[in-house]
Amino acid sequence: MITARSAADLRARVREWRTRENRIAFVPTMGNLHAGHMRLVRRARTTADRVVVSIFVNPMQFGRGEDFASYPRTLEADSAALMEADADLLFVPDVEVVYPRDLEQMTRVEVPALGTILCGASRPGHFAGVTTVVAKLFNLVQPDSAVFGEKDYQQLVIIRRMVEDLSIPISIEGIPTVREPDGLAMSSRNRYLEPRERSIAPGLYQALCEAGDRLGAGERDYGAVEQAARETLIRAGFEPDYVSIRRATDLEPPMSDDKVLRVLAAAWLGGARLIDNIEVTIS
Ligand code: PAJ
Repeated sequence: MITARSAADLRARVREWRTRENRIAFVPTMGNLHAGHMRLVRRARTTADRVVVSIFVNPMQFGRGEDFASYPRTLEADSAALMEADADLLFVPDVEVVYPRDLEQMTRVEVPALGTILCGASRPGHFAGVTTVVAKLFNLVQPDSAVFGEKDYQQLVIIRRMVEDLSIPISIEGIPTVREPDGLAMSSRNRYLEPRERSIAPGLYQALCEAGDRLGAGERDYGAVEQAARETLIRAGFEPDYVSIRRATDLEPPMSDDKVLRVLAAAWLGGARLIDNIEVTIS
C-alpha cells in the first residue's frame, strides 16, 4: 500500500492507474477505523481495480466547541488495517493540501435545505464542511465510484444530491450500518461513552426499531410515533436531539403514497452525540 501526503504524489499514482484503464473506488474517512469503515473498504475492493482511502479529520465540518481537537487519531493502526484489507493507496493530506488558505476564505460547496434540517439544524455549517471536503477529495482522487455508510444517512443523501446537482461523474454507493452485537451502530465517537453510558447506548437503536415496528403494524400518525420514541429515549437516559420519520430518498416529510421511509434520530448520552437510523418499508 502506498501512502500519499501531497496532491502531486496522489495524482502521479492515479494518473498511472488511469493510463492502464484501472477502475478506482474511493472511501473517504476521518480515520480511527473500525469494522464499519472496513466494510466500506471491502466493498470498494470488490467493485474496482484500485482502492483509495483517505484519512483527514476535516476542521471545516466541526463546529465551535465540538470535538475536533479530541477526535481520535490512530494513523498507525489505521494504516495496518488498510494494508490488511488490501487497499492500494492511503491518502493522508496535510491541512494545507486540502485548505490552501484560511477556512473562511475557502470556496465552499453547500447543498441548501437538506443541509440545514435534522443534524444540520443543531450543527450549523457541518454539512457545508462535509460537502466542501468531499468535493475537494473527489477532485484530487478522481475516482469512478465512492463508498459511504448509511450510518450517516443524511450525509449520504446530501452527497448524492451534490453529485447530481454538479454533474460529478462519480457513482455513489451506500452501505448498510455495521453494528456491535448489541445493536449499537459502530462509531469512532462510541469511545467517548463511560461504561454505564455504553450499556444504555443500544437503546437508541432499540427505540428506532420500536418505531419501525409501530409503522410496520400500520400506525400512520408519524408525530405520535416520533414522540413515543423520544419519550423512550428520555426514560433510558438519553437527551434526544430529534427523532424523525422521513421519506428515504430526499428526507422530506413522507406523503401518503411513500413506501420507503427512514426513521432517523440523534441523541446525547453523556459527552457523546450519537446518531442512528433505520429503513422501514410500509405497504
Ligand atoms: P467518518 O465518520 O470517518 O466515516 C467515514 C465513512 O464510514 C462514512 O461514509 C460513514 O458513513 C461510514 N461509517 C461510519 N460508521 C459506520 C458504520 N457503523 N457502518 C457503516 N458505515 C459507517 O463520515 C465521515 O467520516 C466524514 O464526514 C467524511 C465523509 C470523511 C468527510 O469528512
